[in-house]
Amino acid sequence: MVIKASNITRIYKMGSISVKVLNHISLSVEKGKFISIMGPSGAGKSTFLHILGCLDRPTSGEYKLDGLDVVNMNDSQLSNYRNKKIGFIFQLFNLLPKEDIFYNVELPLFYAKKKKKERKERVEEVLSLVGLLHRITHKPNQLSGGECQRVAIARALVNCPALLLADEPTGNLDSHAGHQIMEIFTQLNEQGHTIILVTHNEEMAKYAKYSLYLRDGKIEK
Ligand SMILES: Nc1ncnc2c1ncn2[C@@H]1O[C@H](COP(=O)(O)OP(=O)(O)O)[C@@H](O)[C@H]1O
Ligand SMILES: [Mg+2]
Repeated sequence: MVIKASNITRIYKMGSISVKVLNHISLSVEKGKFISIMGPSGAGKSTFLHILGCLDRPTSGEYKLDGLDVVNMNDSQLSNYRNKKIGFIFQLFNLLPKEDIFYNVELPLFYAKKKKKERKERVEEVLSLVGLLHRITHKPNQLSGGECQRVAIARALVNCPALLLADEPTGNLDSHAGHQIMEIFTQLNEQGHTIILVTHNEEMAKYAKYSLYLRDGKIEK
């Protein structure tokens, strides 16, 4: 199992008010699966994906990522493990605007302490995978939205993660670019990557092999 999450809750506290966004969610995901999570805005999709991606911690519950308990890791153990195991793709790409494409994709390899030669080879490999090797010296603002998202996918792949998580990755793209991104996810899944996609676009969700629905803090199949 890449993911084994049990009884996950997440409560946001704001002053005297607490809001239970995730209500005892359990989810197991085997290697090689491609799953979409749909649900209305505010349902907790991003909250859940951030917990799966170790960007946030559950209020209670258990979570094993690729066999290791992540709930009890300290912050630095968790960020190391996240860098190795998770490729996260955001709606707004989250690229460093002042840095070129090479540097943006290389960054996770720095954190993983890879040597210069290996970094260069690996960056070129993942950029050619998304068809953007010819843009390697460009800056993000010289690329289209669809191209920026392909760079973000390359960055997510660069450490060979166990899990790719994408939060509304086509939400800021036109339909053509959106379908291009989904074609890339489909290819990656055919090569064995495990993918969880959050979207409220039914057309995009259809690319996944399984769909889940998040509503009222619970998951419906
Ligand atoms: N950091 C936060 N503090 C307080 N409430 C939050 C926070 N993040 C999200 N929420 C609330 O949790 C609910 C779920 O948000 P979110 O996970 O972003 O939903 P979705 O991605 O499905 O639209 C919303 O009601 C939102 O306002
Ligand atoms: Mg969201």
